[in-house]
Amino acid sequence: MEIIRAERSGFCFGVKKAVDTAFRQLKENPAGSPLFTHGQLIHNRDVTDELESRGIQAIDRLEEVPEGATVIVRSHGETKQFYDEAARRGIRLADTTCPFVTRIHQLVREAHEAGKPVIIVGDPDHPEVVGTNGWCEGSAFICSSAEEASRFDRSEAFVVCQTTIRQSTLDEVVKTLQDKGVRLDVRNTICNATRERQQAAADLAGKVDAMVVIGGKNSSNSKKLYEICRKACKHAYFVENIADLPLKEIRKCNRIGVAAGASTPERIIKEVISNMSDNITTETTTEANSMADFM
Ligand code: F3S
Repeated sequence: MEIIRAERSGFCFGVKKAVDTAFRQLKENPAGSPLFTHGQLIHNRDVTDELESRGIQAIDRLEEVPEGATVIVRSHGETKQFYDEAARRGIRLADTTCPFVTRIHQLVREAHEAGKPVIIVGDPDHPEVVGTNGWCEGSAFICSSAEEASRFDRSEAFVVCQTTIRQSTLDEVVKTLQDKGVRLDVRNTICNATRERQQAAADLAGKVDAMVVIGGKNSSNSKKLYEICRKACKHAYFVENIADLPLKEIRKCNRIGVAAGASTPERIIKEVISNMSDNITTETTTEANSMADFM
């Protein structure tokens, strides 16, 4: 038996920067001034539990933060109103917004100021999309399928997308809008890290008997990796950590592929691989991966 890890898996650089910043804040803040994140820092429970146990509290609303405290802005980014409110109340920000997301904010802001209707292709409830919509005063039309896109009723639009959506979703939406005769200015803002992880997972899933995808249950990019793997491999499993591993099923397979979402820490990927190695008679060969540990 052989375990093969997808070439690109685990923390992307934006998530790594966010987690590194959080741990640095803890180190540089021994006096204990309160530290917060607006929502969970990343979509991985093991990491957020660890941060919480060390004193970083996740809050839902900025109003809950006392003046003078520090809020770590996660890689998903925030609305313009969030920054205005923090400045007004003297809240210090440790901003880890991913530069790719900041670029989308700039594009959306410019399009809005130029009077162009903005479309965001993505999940309206995802924090990144909520943040992006906050740079055009919440005026964006948000859709994630051809059916939803068909309800757009303006004659032109400036289109951006959530960094983690699938290329096929963007293509579908753009085609629907073009068929309706909408004049479009499309910026493909899907992140390369997402594209590479999806491609590497799809390639590997087509060559193995079983595919294990590691990621947080609330991680949108991990869930998409799982959907992609499920299409290419009959036996695909989505696990958060070793507790979820379906060892009985995996034992029946000869070649097992492993992929992990952009918010999955290296430590958890290694634990899952080593647990499978220990529990099945196997020869473990791991493909190259350069992601660093989160601690
Ligand atoms: Fe940034 Fe792409 Fe990761 S947008 S947070 S590098 S998935």
